Amino acid sequence: STTAIGIDIGGTKIAGALVDERGRITQRQQVATPADDTAAIIEATAGLVRSLEQEAPDEVVGIGMACAAFVDSRRGHVWFAPNLPWRDLDLADEVAALVGRDVVVDNDANAAAWGEYRHGAGRDCDDMVLVTVGTGVGGGCIVDDRLLQGAFGIGGEIGHVALDPSGPRCGCGNSGCLEVFASGSALVRSARELVTSPSPIGAALRERCGGDPEGLTGQDVTELAQQGDGASIELLEDLGARLGQGLASICAVLDPRLVVVGGGVADAGELLIDPARASFARHLIGRGHRPAPQIVPATLGNDAGIVGAATLAREAHA
Ligand code: BGC
Ligand code: NA
Ligand code: ZN
Repeated sequence: STTAIGIDIGGTKIAGALVDERGRITQRQQVATPADDTAAIIEATAGLVRSLEQEAPDEVVGIGMACAAFVDSRRGHVWFAPNLPWRDLDLADEVAALVGRDVVVDNDANAAAWGEYRHGAGRDCDDMVLVTVGTGVGGGCIVDDRLLQGAFGIGGEIGHVALDPSGPRCGCGNSGCLEVFASGSALVRSARELVTSPSPIGAALRERCGGDPEGLTGQDVTELAQQGDGASIELLEDLGARLGQGLASICAVLDPRLVVVGGGVADAGELLIDPARASFARHLIGRGHRPAPQIVPATLGNDAGIVGAATLAREAHA
């Protein structure tokens, strides 16, 4: 048997793992992400790869990296990242030079989509869309058994489909993208607004953070919603409604059989997915006169990016 290495570069940590042929993680390691220092991030990533290589029980057949950026994966080139300071960076070459072998780089949501497609919720499905709802909103599209890249590698950026141009500004520079309404950051922003408002609706949220809105997290909102707090349930409903609307637009173009919802906010489960399904059904073109794709939660959780990156690297060298 053989092993592949998957790395997920996030805003707070760089997570890496050894992944076997069946997409199972056999060992994990992580380091903190050096803040705003690209050279240090590359160095830390290379260090993590070397350390994982030493632990590998058998031959390492590929190294794959996932990051929250617009990536031309054919060249391992990062064009831009809405929420990171990365611009025009030859990420694959830079890491490869340090570790002494080829490295595959792709967008984090693309990698997660490939992970779910090969080893998770999307097995046996040729046309699948994955949306990740976390700090940002990411997308990965499987069309006819292939990961959609587009001419420049930027295909499938579901988070930056415009829902309402009069909406808030997005990290990408445009206004009213799906991401500004339906990301974990948007959820926390709305929850904090409720905390600082005088409304009695925000009482449970206010109590949860001791009146300090900065202390509130997306996890808090999910937990309160699970305990039955009306305001927290509404926040997830509003997010789900936007998500469903955005997904319906995506489905007008791609017509997938399956939509998989992942990312940290998807931990809310049906509290998020049910409202998303309702709004999706309300916006889907041809509704009532056509088959509709299923919307299901991701099954690999936080590991989807790592597993997908490792699997992409394994297949690139096959
Ligand atoms: C970025 C995507 C990324 C997503 C999730 C978005 O803001 O545009 O490239 O996949 O966040 O991290
Ligand atoms: Na993507
Ligand atoms: Zn945007």
